[in-house]
Amino acid sequence: MSQSIIYNNDITQTIKNTVYNDKYDFLNQSYSSLYPNLHRYPATMLPQIGLELLRDFSAKKTNLLDPYCGSGSSFISGLEYGITNFIRFDLNPLAVMISNAKLTTIHKNTLYEAKNLIFEELNNTNKIFPNNNNNILSRIKNIDFWINKDAQNELLKLYYSIINTCKILNNNSLNNILLLVFSETLREVSYTRNNEFKLFRMKNYETYKPNVIAIFTNKLDEIYVKYINYYYPKLIENKISYIQ
Ligand SMILES: C[S@@+](CC[C@H](N)C(=O)[O-])C[C@H]1O[C@@H](n2cnc3c(N)ncnc32)[C@H](O)[C@@H]1O
Repeated sequence: MSQSIIYNNDITQTIKNTVYNDKYDFLNQSYSSLYPNLHRYPATMLPQIGLELLRDFSAKKTNLLDPYCGSGSSFISGLEYGITNFIRFDLNPLAVMISNAKLTTIHKNTLYEAKNLIFEELNNTNKIFPNNNNNILSRIKNIDFWINKDAQNELLKLYYSIINTCKILNNNSLNNILLLVFSETLREVSYTRNNEFKLFRMKNYETYKPNVIAIFTNKLDEIYVKYINYYYPKLIENKISYIQ
């Protein structure tokens, strides 16, 4: 028997031990059994799998590079394992934004101060924003196909209130979490069918008149609770104060 065949058999056996090992099944467990996700993203890996693999390989608790980081499930595995430095890349800026939020350390007092300021800023902004190339929504192709005009204006007020809040508090990391809330809000406010990732416009979209600020408030509270209860304590424990 040639050396290469023995080598291939070894590999096959290793794969079998890993793939067919029912300890990786995590039956009846979901993503949120470990850390609830902060934003929807397709094809997320169960972080429990990554954690088990890090333990199996006795990985060093130093650096974790994920060059296709998606919504950062591997970082959740790493955080839980005790890793202290994370490096991430992804083609999709939304993926980078979600991963950044999961690795950003912000005390809850700052988060709630920001929430109050956003609402103060909203009350001070009665502007109707021009539908031209100078605003953030003009980057969305076929915007009128996806979002009604009133909602577009509310979203713009919200966006600039968030940006002003971060400026007033002189805290750029806040953006990582607040823009995630904005992104979830935008998706729900749009005519996109909400129960799937593919972009289809809902039936009867003409009658959909979402309350943008109410949706934003609910999303903000929901994301804050998940972040404060699950991510923040672990980020503090691992002394994560910055991301690369
Ligand atoms: C299944 S997700 C990765 C999941 C991630 N490793 C985790 O632990 O959550 C695959 C990701 O690869 C990204 N991707 C695909 N091709 C890429 C490329 N050439 N460079 C960087 N990212 C890429 C996609 O945008 C997607 O977010």
